[in-house]
Amino acid sequence: MIKTLEWTSEGVRMLDQRLLPNEEKYLILRSYEEVADAIKKMVVRGAPAIGVSAAMGLALGANQSVGTSVADLEYDFKFMCQVMEATRPTAVNLFWAVERMRQVIAKAKSEKVTYVEEVKNRLTDEAIAIFNEDIESNRALGRFGGELIPDGATVLTHCNAGALATAGDYGTALGVIRGAIDAGKRVAVIADETRPFLQGARLTAWELAKDNIPVTVITDNMAGHVMKQGKIDCVVVGADRIAANGDAANKIGTYMVAVLAKQHNIPFYVAAPISTVDLSTATGDGIPIEERDAKEVTHVRDHQLTPEGVGVHNFAFDVTPHELIEAIITDRGVARAPYTESLRNLVTTRSAHAS
Ligand code: MRU
Repeated sequence: MIKTLEWTSEGVRMLDQRLLPNEEKYLILRSYEEVADAIKKMVVRGAPAIGVSAAMGLALGANQSVGTSVADLEYDFKFMCQVMEATRPTAVNLFWAVERMRQVIAKAKSEKVTYVEEVKNRLTDEAIAIFNEDIESNRALGRFGGELIPDGATVLTHCNAGALATAGDYGTALGVIRGAIDAGKRVAVIADETRPFLQGARLTAWELAKDNIPVTVITDNMAGHVMKQGKIDCVVVGADRIAANGDAANKIGTYMVAVLAKQHNIPFYVAAPISTVDLSTATGDGIPIEERDAKEVTHVRDHQLTPEGVGVHNFAFDVTPHELIEAIITDRGVARAPYTESLRNLVTTRSAHAS
Protein backbone atom coordinates (compact mmCIF):
# COMPACT_ATOMS: atom_id res chain seq x y z
CA MET A 1 0.00 0.00 0.00
CA ILE A 2 1.33 3.42 -0.94
CA LYS A 3 1.63 5.60 2.17
CA THR A 4 0.90 9.14 1.05
CA LEU A 5 0.89 10.54 4.57
CA GLU A 6 0.45 9.36 8.12
CA TRP A 7 0.19 10.60 11.67
CA THR A 8 3.24 9.69 13.76
CA SER A 9 4.40 10.58 17.26
CA GLU A 10 7.02 12.88 15.70
CA GLY A 11 4.67 14.75 13.37
CA VAL A 12 2.98 14.24 9.99
CA ARG A 13 5.00 11.95 7.76
CA MET A 14 4.56 12.71 4.07
CA LEU A 15 5.89 11.39 0.80
CA ASP A 16 7.42 14.37 -1.05
CA GLN A 17 5.47 14.15 -4.32
CA ARG A 18 7.58 16.83 -5.97
CA LEU A 19 10.45 14.37 -6.23
CA LEU A 20 8.57 11.40 -7.68
CA PRO A 21 9.25 9.24 -9.59
CA ASN A 22 12.99 9.82 -9.24
CA GLU A 23 13.19 9.78 -5.49
CA GLU A 24 10.97 8.29 -2.75
CA LYS A 25 11.65 10.61 0.13
CA TYR A 26 9.48 11.01 3.24
CA LEU A 27 9.45 14.24 5.21
CA ILE A 28 8.41 14.66 8.83
CA LEU A 29 6.46 17.88 9.28
CA ARG A 30 6.62 18.99 12.87
CA SER A 31 4.33 22.05 12.98
CA TYR A 32 1.07 23.24 11.44
CA GLU A 33 3.03 25.89 9.56
CA GLU A 34 5.19 23.21 7.94
CA VAL A 35 2.08 21.28 6.92
CA ALA A 36 0.48 24.42 5.45
CA ASP A 37 3.66 25.12 3.52
CA ALA A 38 3.76 21.52 2.23
CA ILE A 39 0.19 21.88 0.92
CA LYS A 40 1.03 25.19 -0.76
CA LYS A 41 4.19 23.84 -2.37
CA MET A 42 2.49 20.59 -3.42
CA VAL A 43 4.64 18.22 -1.40
CA VAL A 44 1.18 16.75 -0.88
CA ARG A 45 -1.60 17.39 -3.37
CA GLY A 46 -4.95 16.00 -4.52
CA ALA A 47 -8.19 17.14 -2.91
CA PRO A 48 -8.70 14.38 -0.29
CA ALA A 49 -5.00 14.30 0.64
CA ILE A 50 -5.05 18.07 1.12
CA GLY A 51 -8.06 17.74 3.46
CA VAL A 52 -6.48 14.94 5.52
CA SER A 53 -3.16 16.84 5.71
CA ALA A 54 -4.91 20.01 6.86
CA ALA A 55 -6.72 18.11 9.62
CA MET A 56 -3.48 16.50 10.78
CA GLY A 57 -1.68 19.85 10.61
CA LEU A 58 -4.35 21.39 12.81
CA ALA A 59 -4.11 18.52 15.30
CA LEU A 60 -0.35 19.07 15.39
CA GLY A 61 -0.81 22.80 15.93
CA ALA A 62 -3.38 22.24 18.68
CA ASN A 63 -1.09 19.80 20.48
CA GLN A 64 1.66 22.42 20.42
CA SER A 65 -0.53 25.25 21.66
CA VAL A 66 0.74 26.39 25.06
CA GLY A 67 -2.58 27.85 26.20
CA THR A 68 -3.80 26.48 29.51
CA SER A 69 -7.54 26.90 28.92
CA VAL A 70 -9.92 25.75 26.20
CA ALA A 71 -10.50 29.43 25.37
CA ASP A 72 -6.74 29.90 24.79
CA LEU A 73 -6.65 26.84 22.58
CA GLU A 74 -9.67 28.08 20.63
CA TYR A 75 -7.99 31.45 20.08
CA ASP A 76 -4.82 29.80 18.68
CA PHE A 77 -6.86 27.31 16.70
CA LYS A 78 -8.83 30.01 14.88
CA PHE A 79 -5.62 31.49 13.55
CA MET A 80 -4.27 28.07 12.53
CA CYS A 81 -7.48 27.41 10.57
CA GLN A 82 -7.05 30.68 8.70
CA VAL A 83 -3.47 29.76 7.76
CA MET A 84 -4.58 26.34 6.60
CA GLU A 85 -7.50 27.70 4.57
CA ALA A 86 -5.22 30.16 2.78
CA THR A 87 -3.08 27.38 1.27
CA ARG A 88 -5.06 26.36 -1.82
CA PRO A 89 -8.51 27.67 -2.81
CA THR A 90 -10.10 25.11 -5.13
CA ALA A 91 -10.28 21.74 -3.35
CA VAL A 92 -13.31 21.93 -1.09
CA ASN A 93 -12.03 18.96 0.94
CA LEU A 94 -9.61 21.39 2.60
CA PHE A 95 -12.43 23.61 3.90
CA TRP A 96 -14.55 20.58 4.74
CA ALA A 97 -11.78 19.04 6.87
CA VAL A 98 -11.00 22.35 8.62
CA GLU A 99 -14.69 22.73 9.41
CA ARG A 100 -14.83 19.21 10.88
CA MET A 101 -11.92 20.11 13.13
CA ARG A 102 -13.61 23.39 14.15
CA GLN A 103 -16.71 21.43 15.09
CA VAL A 104 -14.66 19.34 17.55
CA ILE A 105 -13.92 22.46 19.55
CA ALA A 106 -17.50 23.69 19.23
CA LYS A 107 -18.78 20.34 20.54
CA ALA A 108 -16.29 20.26 23.43
CA LYS A 109 -17.41 23.78 24.38
CA SER A 110 -21.07 22.85 24.21
CA GLU A 111 -20.28 19.88 26.48
CA LYS A 112 -18.47 22.28 28.81
CA VAL A 113 -15.18 20.37 28.59
CA THR A 114 -12.64 22.40 30.57
CA TYR A 115 -9.59 20.14 30.43
CA VAL A 116 -7.53 21.42 27.49
CA GLU A 117 -5.67 18.12 26.97
CA GLU A 118 -9.02 16.40 26.43
CA VAL A 119 -9.83 18.79 23.57
CA LYS A 120 -6.38 18.26 22.06
CA ASN A 121 -6.91 14.50 22.19
CA ARG A 122 -10.29 14.85 20.53
CA LEU A 123 -8.73 16.93 17.74
CA THR A 124 -6.05 14.29 17.17
CA ASP A 125 -8.70 11.55 17.09
CA GLU A 126 -10.75 13.52 14.59
CA ALA A 127 -7.78 13.99 12.24
CA ILE A 128 -7.05 10.26 12.40
CA ALA A 129 -10.75 9.51 11.81
CA ILE A 130 -10.72 11.74 8.71
CA PHE A 131 -7.68 9.81 7.47
CA ASN A 132 -9.32 6.40 8.05
CA GLU A 133 -12.66 7.47 6.59
CA ASP A 134 -10.92 8.66 3.43
CA ILE A 135 -9.42 5.23 2.85
CA GLU A 136 -12.79 3.56 3.49
CA SER A 137 -14.65 6.02 1.20
CA ASN A 138 -12.30 5.35 -1.64
CA ARG A 139 -12.72 1.60 -1.24
CA ALA A 140 -16.51 2.10 -1.39
CA LEU A 141 -16.43 4.36 -4.43
CA GLY A 142 -14.03 1.91 -6.06
CA ARG A 143 -16.63 -0.83 -5.66
CA PHE A 144 -19.46 1.31 -7.09
CA GLY A 145 -17.32 2.65 -9.93
CA GLY A 146 -15.70 -0.68 -10.72
CA GLU A 147 -19.11 -1.96 -11.84
CA LEU A 148 -19.20 0.68 -14.59
CA ILE A 149 -15.91 -0.40 -16.16
CA PRO A 150 -16.22 -3.10 -18.82
CA ASP A 151 -13.90 -6.11 -18.67
CA GLY A 152 -10.94 -5.51 -20.97
CA ALA A 153 -11.44 -1.73 -20.96
CA THR A 154 -8.81 0.91 -21.57
CA VAL A 155 -9.49 3.89 -19.34
CA LEU A 156 -8.12 7.37 -19.90
CA THR A 157 -7.39 9.44 -16.81
CA HIS A 158 -6.10 12.95 -16.30
CA CYS A 159 -3.86 14.20 -13.48
CA ASN A 160 -3.42 11.92 -10.48
CA ALA A 161 -6.50 10.89 -8.54
CA GLY A 162 -4.91 7.85 -7.00
CA ALA A 163 -3.44 6.74 -3.70
CA LEU A 164 -1.12 9.74 -3.86
CA ALA A 165 -4.04 12.17 -4.04
CA THR A 166 -5.79 10.67 -1.02
CA ALA A 167 -4.89 9.25 2.38
CA GLY A 168 -3.35 6.34 0.45
CA ASP A 169 -4.30 2.82 -0.68
CA TYR A 170 -6.92 3.10 -3.49
CA GLY A 171 -7.53 6.69 -4.62
CA THR A 172 -10.65 7.97 -6.37
CA ALA A 173 -10.41 7.74 -10.19
CA LEU A 174 -7.68 5.14 -9.77
CA GLY A 175 -9.83 3.63 -6.99
CA VAL A 176 -12.46 2.91 -9.65
CA ILE A 177 -9.82 1.20 -11.77
CA ARG A 178 -8.52 -0.76 -8.76
CA GLY A 179 -12.13 -1.63 -7.85
CA ALA A 180 -12.70 -3.06 -11.34
CA ILE A 181 -9.45 -5.03 -11.18
CA ASP A 182 -10.27 -6.35 -7.70
CA ALA A 183 -13.63 -7.48 -9.13
CA GLY A 184 -11.70 -9.65 -11.59
CA LYS A 185 -11.73 -7.37 -14.65
CA ARG A 186 -8.78 -6.64 -16.90
CA VAL A 187 -8.17 -2.89 -17.19
CA ALA A 188 -5.44 -0.88 -18.87
CA VAL A 189 -4.87 2.84 -18.27
CA ILE A 190 -3.84 5.69 -20.52
CA ALA A 191 -2.53 8.56 -18.42
CA ASP A 192 -2.40 12.11 -19.75
CA GLU A 193 0.93 13.58 -18.68
CA THR A 194 -0.90 16.64 -17.24
CA ARG A 195 1.11 19.77 -17.85
CA PRO A 196 2.49 21.71 -16.09
CA PHE A 197 3.04 19.76 -12.85
CA LEU A 198 3.03 16.38 -14.67
CA GLN A 199 0.91 14.54 -12.12
CA GLY A 200 -0.05 11.99 -14.82
CA ALA A 201 3.43 11.30 -16.16
CA ARG A 202 5.14 11.33 -12.78
CA LEU A 203 2.57 10.20 -10.21
CA THR A 204 -0.19 8.19 -11.92
CA ALA A 205 2.35 6.27 -13.98
CA TRP A 206 4.47 5.67 -10.85
CA GLU A 207 1.71 4.33 -8.66
CA LEU A 208 0.08 2.17 -11.35
CA ALA A 209 3.41 0.70 -12.41
CA LYS A 210 4.14 -0.07 -8.75
CA ASP A 211 0.84 -2.02 -8.61
CA ASN A 212 1.53 -3.76 -11.95
CA ILE A 213 -1.50 -2.11 -13.58
CA PRO A 214 -0.75 -1.60 -17.30
CA VAL A 215 -0.24 2.13 -17.94
CA THR A 216 0.69 4.10 -21.05
CA VAL A 217 1.54 7.79 -20.83
CA ILE A 218 0.52 10.24 -23.55
CA THR A 219 1.06 13.98 -23.80
CA ASP A 220 -2.11 15.96 -23.14
CA ASN A 221 -2.49 16.96 -26.77
CA MET A 222 -2.65 13.31 -27.92
CA ALA A 223 -5.97 12.55 -26.19
CA GLY A 224 -8.17 13.45 -29.21
CA HIS A 225 -6.10 11.36 -31.60
CA VAL A 226 -6.09 8.34 -29.29
CA MET A 227 -9.88 8.60 -28.82
CA LYS A 228 -10.41 8.85 -32.57
CA GLN A 229 -8.40 5.67 -33.02
CA GLY A 230 -10.97 3.90 -30.81
CA LYS A 231 -8.41 3.14 -28.13
CA ILE A 232 -10.37 4.56 -25.16
CA ASP A 233 -13.47 2.89 -23.68
CA CYS A 234 -14.15 5.41 -20.96
CA VAL A 235 -12.62 8.36 -19.10
CA VAL A 236 -12.44 8.46 -15.29
CA VAL A 237 -11.14 11.55 -13.49
CA GLY A 238 -11.20 12.88 -9.93
CA ALA A 239 -12.56 16.22 -8.75
CA ASP A 240 -11.54 19.04 -6.45
CA ARG A 241 -15.02 20.43 -6.00
CA ILE A 242 -18.38 19.42 -7.39
CA ALA A 243 -21.05 22.11 -7.42
CA ALA A 244 -24.68 21.36 -6.54
CA ASN A 245 -25.61 21.09 -10.24
CA GLY A 246 -22.84 18.55 -10.97
CA ASP A 247 -20.32 20.93 -12.59
CA ALA A 248 -16.96 19.54 -11.52
CA ALA A 249 -13.65 21.34 -11.02
CA ASN A 250 -10.59 19.21 -11.63
CA LYS A 251 -7.03 19.60 -12.87
CA ILE A 252 -6.57 21.98 -15.78
CA GLY A 253 -7.19 20.14 -19.04
CA THR A 254 -10.00 17.96 -17.70
CA TYR A 255 -12.63 20.08 -19.49
CA MET A 256 -10.79 19.59 -22.78
CA VAL A 257 -10.81 15.81 -22.25
CA ALA A 258 -14.56 15.88 -21.46
CA VAL A 259 -15.33 17.77 -24.68
CA LEU A 260 -13.27 15.27 -26.65
CA ALA A 261 -15.01 12.35 -24.93
CA LYS A 262 -18.41 13.80 -25.90
CA GLN A 263 -17.28 14.18 -29.52
CA HIS A 264 -16.24 10.51 -29.61
CA ASN A 265 -19.22 9.12 -27.63
CA ILE A 266 -17.00 7.92 -24.82
CA PRO A 267 -18.51 7.94 -21.30
CA PHE A 268 -16.84 10.50 -19.03
CA TYR A 269 -17.02 9.67 -15.29
CA VAL A 270 -16.05 11.77 -12.29
CA ALA A 271 -15.09 9.89 -9.10
CA ALA A 272 -14.93 11.65 -5.74
CA PRO A 273 -15.84 11.11 -2.11
CA ILE A 274 -18.99 12.85 -0.90
CA SER A 275 -16.78 15.41 0.92
CA THR A 276 -15.91 16.82 -2.53
CA VAL A 277 -19.54 17.73 -3.22
CA ASP A 278 -20.18 21.35 -2.27
CA LEU A 279 -23.93 21.96 -2.21
CA SER A 280 -23.33 25.56 -1.10
CA THR A 281 -21.86 26.34 -4.53
CA ALA A 282 -24.75 26.29 -7.00
CA THR A 283 -22.79 25.98 -10.26
CA GLY A 284 -19.21 25.70 -11.48
CA ASP A 285 -19.08 29.46 -12.01
CA GLY A 286 -18.87 29.85 -8.24
CA ILE A 287 -15.81 27.60 -7.83
CA PRO A 288 -12.60 29.56 -7.17
CA ILE A 289 -9.87 28.59 -9.62
CA GLU A 290 -6.35 28.65 -8.27
CA GLU A 291 -3.66 30.39 -10.32
CA ARG A 292 -0.13 29.26 -9.54
CA ASP A 293 3.37 30.55 -10.08
CA ALA A 294 4.25 31.17 -13.75
CA LYS A 295 7.48 29.27 -13.21
CA GLU A 296 5.57 25.98 -13.24
CA VAL A 297 4.78 26.74 -16.91
CA THR A 298 8.00 28.44 -17.99
CA HIS A 299 10.27 25.82 -16.43
CA VAL A 300 10.51 22.06 -16.04
CA ARG A 301 12.19 21.81 -12.66
CA ASP A 302 15.09 24.28 -13.14
CA HIS A 303 15.21 24.13 -16.92
CA GLN A 304 13.68 27.20 -18.62
CA LEU A 305 11.48 26.47 -21.66
CA THR A 306 10.10 29.87 -22.66
CA PRO A 307 11.79 33.13 -23.62
CA GLU A 308 12.48 35.41 -20.71
CA GLY A 309 9.68 37.84 -19.85
CA VAL A 310 6.79 36.38 -21.90
CA GLY A 311 3.26 36.47 -20.47
CA VAL A 312 2.03 33.27 -18.84
CA HIS A 313 -1.27 31.88 -17.58
CA ASN A 314 -1.11 29.14 -15.00
CA PHE A 315 -4.67 28.17 -14.13
CA ALA A 316 -4.44 25.06 -11.98
CA PHE A 317 -8.02 23.84 -12.52
CA ASP A 318 -10.95 24.08 -14.91
CA VAL A 319 -14.63 23.24 -14.62
CA THR A 320 -16.32 20.50 -16.63
CA PRO A 321 -20.01 21.34 -17.14
CA HIS A 322 -22.35 18.67 -15.80
CA GLU A 323 -23.87 17.95 -19.22
CA LEU A 324 -20.57 16.37 -20.29
CA ILE A 325 -20.52 14.02 -17.29
CA GLU A 326 -22.08 10.56 -17.70
CA ALA A 327 -22.10 9.87 -13.95
CA ILE A 328 -20.52 11.00 -10.69
CA ILE A 329 -19.20 8.07 -8.66
CA THR A 330 -19.15 8.64 -4.90
CA ASP A 331 -18.66 6.49 -1.82
CA ARG A 332 -22.44 6.60 -1.31
CA GLY A 333 -23.37 5.48 -4.80
CA VAL A 334 -23.48 6.68 -8.38
CA ALA A 335 -25.20 9.99 -9.18
CA ARG A 336 -26.65 10.63 -12.61
CA ALA A 337 -28.43 13.63 -14.16
CA PRO A 338 -30.32 15.56 -12.95
CA TYR A 339 -27.43 16.07 -10.54
CA THR A 340 -29.10 18.77 -8.45
CA GLU A 341 -31.43 16.05 -7.24
CA SER A 342 -29.15 12.98 -7.23
CA LEU A 343 -26.24 14.71 -5.49
CA ARG A 344 -28.50 16.24 -2.85
CA ASN A 345 -29.95 12.78 -2.18
CA LEU A 346 -26.50 11.25 -1.76
CA VAL A 347 -25.24 14.06 0.48
CA THR A 348 -28.23 13.77 2.76
CA THR A 349 -27.96 9.96 2.93
CA ARG A 350 -25.96 8.91 5.97
CA SER A 351 -24.89 5.37 5.10
CA ALA A 352 -23.31 4.13 1.90
CA HIS A 353 -25.75 2.77 -0.68
CA ALA A 354 -26.09 2.54 -4.45
CA SER A 355 -28.46 5.08 -6.04
O1 MRU B 1 -3.09 20.44 -8.16
P1 MRU B 1 -3.40 19.07 -7.64
O2 MRU B 1 -2.36 18.04 -8.00
O3 MRU B 1 -3.72 19.09 -6.17
O4 MRU B 1 -4.73 18.65 -8.41
C1 MRU B 1 -5.23 17.38 -8.19
C2 MRU B 1 -6.41 17.07 -9.00
O5 MRU B 1 -6.90 17.86 -9.76
C3 MRU B 1 -7.06 15.73 -8.74
O6 MRU B 1 -7.59 15.19 -9.92
C4 MRU B 1 -8.20 15.94 -7.74
O7 MRU B 1 -7.72 16.58 -6.59
C5 MRU B 1 -8.84 14.68 -7.34
S1 MRU B 1 -7.78 13.75 -6.31
C6 MRU B 1 -8.51 12.36 -5.75
